[in-house]
Amino acid sequence: MDRIRIVGGNKLNGTIPISGAKNAALPLMIAALLTDETLILDNVPRLADVAQVQRILGNHGVDIMSAGKRPGDHHQGQTLHISAANIIDTTAPYELVSTMRASFWVVAPLLARMGECKVSLPGGCAIGTRPVDLLIMALEKLGAQIQIDGGYVIASAPNGLTGAEIEFPKVTVSGTHVALMAATLAKGRTVILNAACEPEILDVADCLNKMGGKITGAGTPRIVIEGVKKLHGARHTVLPDRIETGTYAMAVAMTGGDVQLAGARPELLQSALDVLVQAGATVTPNNEGIRIQRNGAGISPVTVSTAPFPGFPTDLQAQLMALMACAKGSSHITETIFENRFMHVQELARFGARISLDGETATIDGIASLKGAPVMATDLRASVSLVIAGLAAEGETMVNRIYHLDRGFERLEEKLSACGANIERISG
Ligand code: UD1
Repeated sequence: MDRIRIVGGNKLNGTIPISGAKNAALPLMIAALLTDETLILDNVPRLADVAQVQRILGNHGVDIMSAGKRPGDHHQGQTLHISAANIIDTTAPYELVSTMRASFWVVAPLLARMGECKVSLPGGCAIGTRPVDLLIMALEKLGAQIQIDGGYVIASAPNGLTGAEIEFPKVTVSGTHVALMAATLAKGRTVILNAACEPEILDVADCLNKMGGKITGAGTPRIVIEGVKKLHGARHTVLPDRIETGTYAMAVAMTGGDVQLAGARPELLQSALDVLVQAGATVTPNNEGIRIQRNGAGISPVTVSTAPFPGFPTDLQAQLMALMACAKGSSHITETIFENRFMHVQELARFGARISLDGETATIDGIASLKGAPVMATDLRASVSLVIAGLAAEGETMVNRIYHLDRGFERLEEKLSACGANIERISG
């Protein structure tokens, strides 16, 4: 199994290109099931999760071709031509769905276009129970009949879905994606209330509109969808990854240095950038992205609660905790989105970090410096917090079980070593 070896202590200086957002690329690829014409997606990151969605779509009979860039394209990612002209199978089996939660979302387009499907209950990062009750509620509101049997969700809508009002009792990204995709092909109007406002929802809605959908209000808590009979092909560029952006910004804040995050968009992560400024980093948005610097000054402690967009993202919580491990004083980080999303705490402790947990709140008593250690990656975002800690720690860190990192961070070692980090992947 691959590992990552880091010798900490180097400042980061240079440019890091920001990839397309994993959390937009996955639902965008899945949305291709809604049409029998080709959807072309640009700036798709090369990630294990993307490859997994390719396998899942392939199982339904979808053709996917990875093509070269067009002249003048500045993005790093691949271009995928996705054609679901013939859906040959409406079952998404356990073996394919169990490794990644987002793969369950195929339930929406399959049901909307084919009138039936059978999809295994999902897996994904072990960060709490992560149920699908709200996704099922949304589909039932649209008229689907749903049974759960033998670990599978069996859904049918023989006469198609019908528009309805769907009010989510809590903000859910997955629920909003599923409701949005299903409602585009439903008869009549759907109104989603208390919708997630995450930028990836807006990106998917923009793409669905290019495909002939009639969606307004995406990016706000009230989304209105006028159902259409058919969607057509389109071309869409995946927006930049705000979590990757925030992760590298925190790495620079921790090690010190001066890095341009090329292609990043500040409005996608304003709350995290505000926290970084409070922590003592200098954040400068410019034409090419975001410049992040920390020179000389120490790290100041912060008090932060995770929240749905535009609040501080739960997907940056572990990284912020690594940063605060070396703050001059005590920080408090409260996780409000997922229970049990503190598995990085015991791994950060191996570096000498002083963190105590009280329910949903972690108190981090900053120390002068961390010491390198062997550590184990537990989930996607937790893994990268260990990389950040290793970059700043004295001596050698070995991060084990890094397949989690490959799910969500494209060319991580390459991007960091180009900025002066001493980091390498050890295969086998
Ligand atoms: C998505 C992101 C993930 C991010 C999360 C929150 C993708 C691929 N993943 O995950 O990186 O951390 O949003 O920003 O985009 N819930 C229920 N019932 C449901 C669905 C969700 O109770 O049916 C709960 C969850 O357990 C959680 C909360 O709602 O406590 C938010 O979950 P949700 O926003 O749906 O997260 P995901 O879409 O799974």
